[in-house]
Amino acid sequence: MKKTPSAKKACKKVATPLYKDPKQPVEARVKDLLRRMTLEEKIDQLTQMPIGGDINPNNPGEWRNFSPTYGSILSYCGGTKKRNEFQRLAVETTRLGIPIIWGFDVIHGWRTTFPVSLAQAGSFRPALTEKLSRISALEAWNDGGVNWTFSPMVEVAHDPRWGRVVEGYGEDPLTAQVFTKAAVYGYQGRKAEQLKTPGYIAACLKHFVGYSASEGGRDYAYTDISRRALWEWYLPPFEAGVAAGARTLMSSFNDITGTPAVANYYTQTEVLRNRWGFDGFIVSDWGSVSQLKAQRFSSDPAESAAASVVAGNDMCMSDGYYKNLKALVEDGKLPVKVINKAVERVLRVKFQIGLFEHPYAPEKTKEEVCWLPEYLQAAVETARETIVLLKNEKNTLPLKSQKGKRIALIGPNGDKSLCHIGWWAALARDDEKHAPSLLTKAREFFPDSEIVFEPGCPEPFPASNAETIKKFDPNQLPAAVEAAKSADVILLALGEHGHQSGEYHSRRDICLPPFQDELVDAIRKAAPDKPIIALVTAGRPLAFQEAAKKVDAILYLWQSGYGASQATMEILTGKVNPSAKLAMTFPRTVGQIPVYVNAHHPARFDLHDYQDYPEEDGPWFPFGYGLSYTTFEYAEPVVKKGANGTFKVKVSVTNTGKKAGAETIIWYLHDLEAYYTQPVKRVVSFEKIDLEPGETKVVSLTLTPEMLSYVNEDGQRQLEEGTFEISASEKTSASFTVSL
Ligand code: BGC
Repeated sequence: MKKTPSAKKACKKVATPLYKDPKQPVEARVKDLLRRMTLEEKIDQLTQMPIGGDINPNNPGEWRNFSPTYGSILSYCGGTKKRNEFQRLAVETTRLGIPIIWGFDVIHGWRTTFPVSLAQAGSFRPALTEKLSRISALEAWNDGGVNWTFSPMVEVAHDPRWGRVVEGYGEDPLTAQVFTKAAVYGYQGRKAEQLKTPGYIAACLKHFVGYSASEGGRDYAYTDISRRALWEWYLPPFEAGVAAGARTLMSSFNDITGTPAVANYYTQTEVLRNRWGFDGFIVSDWGSVSQLKAQRFSSDPAESAAASVVAGNDMCMSDGYYKNLKALVEDGKLPVKVINKAVERVLRVKFQIGLFEHPYAPEKTKEEVCWLPEYLQAAVETARETIVLLKNEKNTLPLKSQKGKRIALIGPNGDKSLCHIGWWAALARDDEKHAPSLLTKAREFFPDSEIVFEPGCPEPFPASNAETIKKFDPNQLPAAVEAAKSADVILLALGEHGHQSGEYHSRRDICLPPFQDELVDAIRKAAPDKPIIALVTAGRPLAFQEAAKKVDAILYLWQSGYGASQATMEILTGKVNPSAKLAMTFPRTVGQIPVYVNAHHPARFDLHDYQDYPEEDGPWFPFGYGLSYTTFEYAEPVVKKGANGTFKVKVSVTNTGKKAGAETIIWYLHDLEAYYTQPVKRVVSFEKIDLEPGETKVVSLTLTPEMLSYVNEDGQRQLEEGTFEISASEKTSASFTVSL
């Protein structure tokens, strides 16, 4: 019998394309999908656009057209319901149904806000960073449908004038490596399979590379970086992040010694892909492909796009410049295989994060998925470990009972929340409920004392001293002086505005904002014998030596997030013993910058750095500085030769005070002589331990040949024979000899 065509049609099974089958290996899915794509679809996958609601005020042109064929949307914060509607257009109305990957700057929290990264590093507890990154990922996914965070920012920075030091883990490559790994594990999970589970999100190591070396600390400025510096300082945290499995990187804005980062073949292809075997993708930074014009690299959009993609930059953020690649390929000027490679990398990550299986985010209320008690608890827990005790004359702290006494809280940051939240706080708002001010918490912690608050001077304006000066109010200082005169204890809430550091917030000077030095001076004169405690909030090291001399104690709060005020009061009252240390050196003045831990030897011994202040050699507070309410004593370290070229080092550390406390043992290595000269001291490891009063613990370290070696200008590790010194404290060290 003859079959009718319609009957035949009814029997035909529609096969599911291989790329949609989660049981297929990722590489097979990538290959299958790629071969089905048109050139236009491929280029769209390399395009990332904002569609409004962008939270970064430095990024112009918020509203652009949405296309469901775009590879990625960034900074959308219109809620998961609307996000899913856009996603549905991509998945259900486009020919191939490729879901969009949603990116966002989740830097130190989504809604629950944690201490800024620079402060986190000072905790020297990477487990805290892993935990808070995990929480940030969960909140960002559940409340925002975020699949991909533009974090961690892993740049080693030597110049506190650069506003973005707040976003990184400080000046030491080893510390940055350890914290980079922790953040990647927190966002992505420790095992590759975890990344497929909703609630784990892709990490992005940024900015690749050397942006922090911008001349004079000016944002977006030129960077002149030798290969040696690149390998010694700037590349190590990225290498660690790649090894931890980070799925993406963001190329940086800076022009690296003549070749802008986005168009840099050496960094993006030779180093990252060929040497480190990275198979995820690179996204450019906001408009950095179009900025090649400003950098006078290329004024032709097509040329800029081609230079970037050929160098290895896969996805183009925000300026749409990769649209120009189509004509280049069609005209035979750009091989399609270059595009294919980039698309492959983007698709690979989309499959690896399970985007095809879980394109839609939960549609819950923010109250259901954010600010959970354990998240808020983690915020306090982290803040406790990030606040640094810089000065404590005559054991002013912890405060004795203040029952029946009067406490004057003076200073413009005393009743503010934003100064604790800082820059890049995703969806956290300047919100007293979640980020209570110092004043609110002081009232809670000292219920039997009278608390008087006076700002004393205007709140600093984030972007200009002149604007702060305009806000001068002649009544503020006299009122503060009166409050100080009648108080028993004075708390001075000083420091930066919450948005005074961050992107495009570099400062020529890093002193206290206008009027604050005068405020400290007037308060000390009004209350010559009273205890004055400075509580300083800032996103960078500040140089305020003169003001510091006039106060009895200083707590450096950084921007410690939702838990900042709670943790500050716990430390003031002695409920918590401070244990954080500095992950970035504090210079005495700006003129001393750069001054940092891993600096190399000068050419002459025993001469002062500067002649105008010979008595003030060295930094104000070095890397690793931070006091406690107890004291620790280090014995002489002991070194023994181990197997396979290793050395075993041990040091006993004793809590010699009367309180339990935590101490970070930072191991510094000194290679006494080498073909490539070495730092005076190089951080090779750290470990934080808890010690009861009188308790001694032995801390050990295994120095491997890799730790003893150094990297040359080509990134190769070299180990030389010779004498080394290892130390864990200023006072003691042990030497040993390496022979090959
Ligand atoms: C910043 C990046 C950020 C991006 C997206 C840029 O201006 O440099 O760090 O991830 O904007 O908001």
